[in-house]
Formats: sequence, C-alpha cells, structure tokens
Amino acid sequence: MGFVVEKVKPEETQDFIELDRLIFSEADAFNPEFFDLFENFWIIINGRRAGAIMLGLHMDRWSQEVPPPREGSLYLASTGLLKRYRGFGAGRQAKLWQIAYAREHGFTRLVAENRASNHAIVNLNKSLGFELIGIDPGFYPDPLEDALIMELVL
Ligand SMILES: CC(C)(COP(=O)(O)OP(=O)(O)OC[C@H]1O[C@@H](n2cnc3c(N)ncnc32)[C@H](O)[C@@H]1OP(=O)(O)O)[C@@H](O)C(=O)NCCC(=O)NCCS
Repeated sequence: MGFVVEKVKPEETQDFIELDRLIFSEADAFNPEFFDLFENFWIIINGRRAGAIMLGLHMDRWSQEVPPPREGSLYLASTGLLKRYRGFGAGRQAKLWQIAYAREHGFTRLVAENRASNHAIVNLNKSLGFELIGIDPGFYPDPLEDALIMELVL
C-alpha cells in the first residue's frame, strides 16, 4: 500500500472540507471556518486522497478551557479515512506519522479526544501507548456522548 501524507495547500482547502464531510457525520465535522485553526494534511493511498489529518499546534483540546492549553501539546483534532480505506492498517500508519511529526517538531505530548463509542480510534490509540487522562461528559451533542481524552507523553 502506497501511503503518503501531504500538507493541504491553501487552494485545496475546499476539497479538504468536502473529503472531511464524507468521513464524518455532519454533527461531528468541524465548521468550515475552523479549518484555518489547524494544520491540515491529506492521507494519500496509492495516489488517491483517502483521508484527512488535522493537527492543533500547542493546543490541548478543542474546547481549550479546562485544563488550559499546555505549551508542547499536539492536539489530534482529526484522523479519518474514507470507508473503503479502513481496516487495512492505514489508520495505524497515520498515527505513527503523527507521532513522528510531534517528535520532529519538538512537541512533548499528543492529545486526542474521541467519542467513547469510537472503538477503532480508542483501541488504536491505546495500542500505541496513549493513556486515558479524562472524560468530558456529554461533550458530543448529536448523539449525546462523552468524550474520552487520551494522551501520549513523548
Ligand atoms: C479510526 C480509523 C482512522 C482507524 O483506521 P483503520 O485504517 O481502519 O485502522 P487500522 O486498520 O490501522 O487498525 C489499527 C488498529 O485500530 C483498531 N481498530 C481498527 N478498526 C477497528 C474496529 N472496527 N473496531 C475496533 N478496533 C479497531 C485496532 O486496534 C487495530 O489494530 P489491529 O489491526 O492490530 O487489531 C478509521 O476507522 C476511521 O477513519 N474512522 C472514521 C473517522 C474517525 O472516527 N476518526 C477518529 C475520530 S477523529
């Protein structure tokens, strides 16, 4: 499997938002005006745009309220693949790429928050050493669900 991660160019932002909409439900997708807050990357598999990575630099969580954002945190705002690319190891490669990115750019921890029922991402994070550091009750409104906050200290 040819797996490459490439930075989204400014003129590609609309295409990126459209791909994100194919991966996530409308309720879970970021509003278009928030995309500029993140560093956005294509996941390219065998030459095709297969998924999306969104990183928040020196950001702990999307809400950023409690606890306050810590310098050195890389927030994994989004890691997603189109359905047909799931289950073949690309998610794991994307996570390994994120960890390498964090090391190369001097981050000291990676932080993720995900729906409690999202076993795929929670298991994947756990398998790479992420630990549960908190729960945000009812963080996701539609459908209502807690967020699990996980962290990997480098
Ligand atoms: C989460 C996601 C990126 C995982 O990618 P993937 O390519 O399907 O995962 P992989 O094939 O690399 O699997 C890696 C590990 O993830 C876990 N995993 C993957 N799919 C799983 C599933 N359906 N149920 C439980 N665990 C699963 C397993 O621990 C797996 O390791 P294993 O193969 O040794 O058992 C993918 O499912 C996805 O894009 N989901 C929709 C978007 C999303 O919810 N993103 C997370 C929130 S930002």
